[in-house]
Amino acid sequence: MKLAAIDSSLDIEKISSLCKRRGFVYQSSEIYGGLASTWDYGPLGVELKRNVKDHWWNTMVWERDDMVGLDASILMHPDTWRASGHLESFTDPLVECSDCNRRYREDHIETKVCPECSGALTEPRLFHLMFKTFMGPVEGDASTVYLRPETAQGIFLNFLNVINSTRVKVPFGIAQIGKAFRNEIIARQFVFRMREFEQMEMQFFVEPGKEMNFYDDWKDKRMKWHKSLDLGDHLYRFHNHENLAHYANAACDIEFLFPMGFKELEGIHSRTDFDLKSHQKLSGKKINYYDQKTKSSFIPYVIETSVGLDRLFLSVLSASYQNQKLKNGTERIFLKIPFEIAPIKAAILPLNAKDNLPEKAKLLYDELKTFFNIQYDEKDSIGKRYRRQDAIGTPYCITFDYDTLKDNSVTIRNRNSMVQDRVLLSSTKDYIINNVSIDNLLTQV
Ligand code: GAP
Repeated sequence: MKLAAIDSSLDIEKISSLCKRRGFVYQSSEIYGGLASTWDYGPLGVELKRNVKDHWWNTMVWERDDMVGLDASILMHPDTWRASGHLESFTDPLVECSDCNRRYREDHIETKVCPECSGALTEPRLFHLMFKTFMGPVEGDASTVYLRPETAQGIFLNFLNVINSTRVKVPFGIAQIGKAFRNEIIARQFVFRMREFEQMEMQFFVEPGKEMNFYDDWKDKRMKWHKSLDLGDHLYRFHNHENLAHYANAACDIEFLFPMGFKELEGIHSRTDFDLKSHQKLSGKKINYYDQKTKSSFIPYVIETSVGLDRLFLSVLSASYQNQKLKNGTERIFLKIPFEIAPIKAAILPLNAKDNLPEKAKLLYDELKTFFNIQYDEKDSIGKRYRRQDAIGTPYCITFDYDTLKDNSVTIRNRNSMVQDRVLLSSTKDYIINNVSIDNLLTQV
């Protein structure tokens, strides 16, 4: 069955209300009226996000011999941001409506008047995007620290630690998943643009002069990784940057077709030796790599891949939403989340809550829950329970009926095709594992 990749009636409000209703994402601090552009992941959201992280980590770190992981702290020495250039230039141009006081990013609007009330806009001023806080009991310039606006700098600052404490050799990479913070002027569009978000970043250290081969290779690898999710190859495209940031000699985005159009999902940058060199200069600490083979030292060049986990989450949900017309004239809404990253892998459903069916079903539930995340449900008709699981993207429903009591077999219903297989109870675990294992995705990259 071929299913449409993005439902044309889907918009960001529909996704955000679906996320709230089904326990994927809630507005942060909602009982106090909410806090703008901050979101909390609910019971299903947290599972989906974890599975996406695992898929990234497994392919980027576990499957490779030339990659190690890191988890650096969010608060870093303020000189970090002096050296990286963030303190001086991590700004966006802000304009304000002189009538209604709404604020906009100048580069995000096309008119010179307020899009809401047609009032005149002020001249742009540069608005700094880093969040400031204070370390210790005294508030002042000397104690000012920043919430990191990207995780990458934690990798650069630990470059020497990693080469001195492990056996890595250039070319090699350091991967990291963690929170980043940006005081975005306008942070709408649900989890697409947040003030607190999560990045999955990787810096690959290479010999100067060889960076373009690695840049092309990483572009290819990252695109394949996204497509391995099987959401639809036509939903992705590259956007090469023409205006490069001061530290880059090549850069592109992998864009995804979100409900609001093609937008950046991941950035891939050839960052030269800018960061390591700047940290060397400001810290006074030599940041060299000594190559045993050539007996020479150099500051490595860096290829960076940086994907927003929240945007990835949104891409999965928006491509998974399906409103399907059935042959009997009814409709069914289901989430076609790839089986391997679905929050709940299977639901165990006794046909009736009597006649020893629940007892038998719970035995399987207790066995399977140690292998993957599953649910047990005996409330309402079986049809309603199938719909409930469809709506949260559960790949399989395992039904215990009266034949189960006679022949120890169950019905396993596939979420996408709705086809039901009769499977022996003793084979159920392998059946599910074979079809939901994250390893199915890994081999494709
Ligand atoms: N270290 C490089 C870097 O941070 P970036 O293009 O500014 O590059 C990388 O960010 C990725 O982080 C983006 O492609 C996007 O997926 C995600 N991202 C950036 N700002 C975000 C925000 N305000 N909310 C959610 N995700 C964001």
